[in-house]
Amino acid sequence: MNDTVLHVGGAAPYDVVVGRGLAEHLPAVLGTSVQRVALLYAEPLHHLAQQALDVLVAHYDVLALALPDGERAKTSSVAHECWEALGEAGFTRSDAVVTFGGGATTDVGGFVAASWLRGVRVVHMPSTLLAMVDAAVGGKTGINTGAGKNLVGAFHEPAGVLCDLALLDTLPSEEISAGLGEVVKCGFIADPTILDLAESDPGAAQDSTSAVLRELVERAIQVKIDVVVADLKETGGADGHPGREVLNYGHTLAHAIERATDYEIRHGEAVALGCVYVAEVARRAGLIDDDLAARHARAFAAVGLATTWSGAAFDELLATMAVDKKSRGSQLRLVVLHGLADPRILAGPSEDHLREAYAALGGAR
Ligand code: GLY
Repeated sequence: MNDTVLHVGGAAPYDVVVGRGLAEHLPAVLGTSVQRVALLYAEPLHHLAQQALDVLVAHYDVLALALPDGERAKTSSVAHECWEALGEAGFTRSDAVVTFGGGATTDVGGFVAASWLRGVRVVHMPSTLLAMVDAAVGGKTGINTGAGKNLVGAFHEPAGVLCDLALLDTLPSEEISAGLGEVVKCGFIADPTILDLAESDPGAAQDSTSAVLRELVERAIQVKIDVVVADLKETGGADGHPGREVLNYGHTLAHAIERATDYEIRHGEAVALGCVYVAEVARRAGLIDDDLAARHARAFAAVGLATTWSGAAFDELLATMAVDKKSRGSQLRLVVLHGLADPRILAGPSEDHLREAYAALGGAR
């Protein structure tokens, strides 16, 4: 099957390519002015990254830097080691970074590229479904500090994104399901065809070699592209649309659950729970009907995700939600639906609704 090219417009346009076996596209995306390339890859993926490395060494002076896996990569000391390595190798403004890994690799690699000489080209090769449909697109980069996640970072749009679906063939099924959590979220906020596809063929939806999964990935990326083109820096949308904040549908409770579980739960799993929860809040507030609320649990369950959870006391979760970055001033802000694909902001939701919705999710009020 041919590759699909999804174009991201705006001040710094680029393409997101979806297909299989995409490493050979790297030179075309990096361009001819680049002489040195730093390949920043998640260390456990060194076998998978080899193909990209082989293509790069045939065209450029390559510096391959292995990063710790997952969130352990998103520290100032890892960024510092990368900066030192770029300095020793004499990286100039016309050189480039390629990231190869999941969302954490994309975030820290993007941040290194954003900060080196105030910004060099970066191309992302996301290796997880979650990173393909979220972190790799839209230019958010960052690292964590002791006070929280993503507190240091920059907007730095990539020069291109290569979503090689062959990289998903060896991904554990739980990781596919977790990635589908963000995909299904996109179905509720913007593209209901995603829900139809996932519900009508759940097996294919979870199969990295299927045309269904490919269509789901492409549709979810298109949702993200449309959102970031309209509101790259999350300053807000028009006509009541939340703008980029819409991508945080389900994320307020999700972040609280992630924190309560010490990040043991996968992000996409927490997002599924957060979406089911916030739909219940919206139903209780009279914003959506019973069918749409119930469809949340059905759609996430169809892609193999849990839709009930009771792992923490509500007061603990509420305390985290109150300091979540989605709350501004003293009011909690939630992205809610007013109907399918009709997202809005609900500022200052009723605490009773928040509590009751948690009980409906299976938790203790
Ligand atoms: N992951 C949310 C965003 O890119 O805005």
